[in-house]
Amino acid sequence: MPSPPETASTTVPVALGERSYDVVVAEGGWDALPARLESALRRTWAGKPCRKALIVTDANVAALPYPDRTREALAAIGIESTTAVVPPGEASKGLDTAATLYEKLVAMAADRHTLVVPVGGGVMGDLGGFIAATFARGLPLFMVPTTLLAQVDSSVGGKVGVNLPRVKNIVGAFHQPVAVWVDVASVNDLPDRELRCGLAEVVKYGVILDAPFFAELEANADAILARRPDLLRRIVARSCELKADVVSKDEREQTGLRAVLNFGHTIGHGVEATAGYGGGFQHGEAVAVGMVAESRLAERLGWVDAAFTERLARLLGRFGLPTSLSGLDPAAVLESMGRDKKNKGGRIRLVLPRRMGEVELTDAASADDLRSLLKDLCR
Ligand code: GLY
Repeated sequence: MPSPPETASTTVPVALGERSYDVVVAEGGWDALPARLESALRRTWAGKPCRKALIVTDANVAALPYPDRTREALAAIGIESTTAVVPPGEASKGLDTAATLYEKLVAMAADRHTLVVPVGGGVMGDLGGFIAATFARGLPLFMVPTTLLAQVDSSVGGKVGVNLPRVKNIVGAFHQPVAVWVDVASVNDLPDRELRCGLAEVVKYGVILDAPFFAELEANADAILARRPDLLRRIVARSCELKADVVSKDEREQTGLRAVLNFGHTIGHGVEATAGYGGGFQHGEAVAVGMVAESRLAERLGWVDAAFTERLARLLGRFGLPTSLSGLDPAAVLESMGRDKKNKGGRIRLVLPRRMGEVELTDAASADDLRSLLKDLCR
């Protein structure tokens, strides 16, 4: 009998010594998951004797096939799973929901070998990862991100956490997964707006680390928007490779290297907070606006020219992302930026472009530079 065609997949290693793991980026191909997962679990003390799992998903993703496929893959290697379905949205990323999940783990008599498996977008990964990092001082974690944003960013690198009512992502940990499984076919289930938000982070990788990748995105923008599977696999895998390289050199954000991933995020977070979370700007949209604004700031410092910013804004525009801050209150944006975790000694630190594929963390921009930039851009 002819063997079934091999599923196209790309494996991206994340090199972190004994905490190393693979991100598998596949086009479908769930048949391969049990063997991949079994070998990932076998490599770890916590994973080797694993017989139980808690799948954490939300009500929207629960209607899609991915939680069931994950459950079937776990069952195929003798792991029995319980599924917890939480309400969709950022409101679930808090200590109340975390407490209900801890109770669920207690009810299933979880031990330190019980696997936690978030299936869904960034909220599920951050929340499920936080549960895994804290219950019984750490459970093994296996990520199944189903949104482009989670696939290229939050599911890789081990940052997990929840929000407090007034502060985002403030309670958390670094807790690396044993493996990450991406089926790029899940991108087909995303509304256009969510696809675009993920693309903002993909563009970011080109600007900060890989000029040829940026050019590749320019050349293929239409086919990417049309969700061509091979291109989705390529952009997810390349984004994960670039992030994996940064994370393996500065896992805990201690040398400043990992901070480069925050290009567009300092002004972006200010925009998001000013417009109100869940308000006018989704995260990826705020990052798009933030990248253009930070590039304008780099222009003022003489680091890049206007053509650089226009090229960036043009690609973001082709991906249907916003590039302007007009209508926002510049003072409110600046005030939110003052609360950024990267700031040091009262100075605002930003990641600014030097040239395509290269950025630098700097406090070279004064509060006055920022005030006048934001005033011009928010008009
Ligand atoms: N999303 C930025 C980081 O993982 O460091």
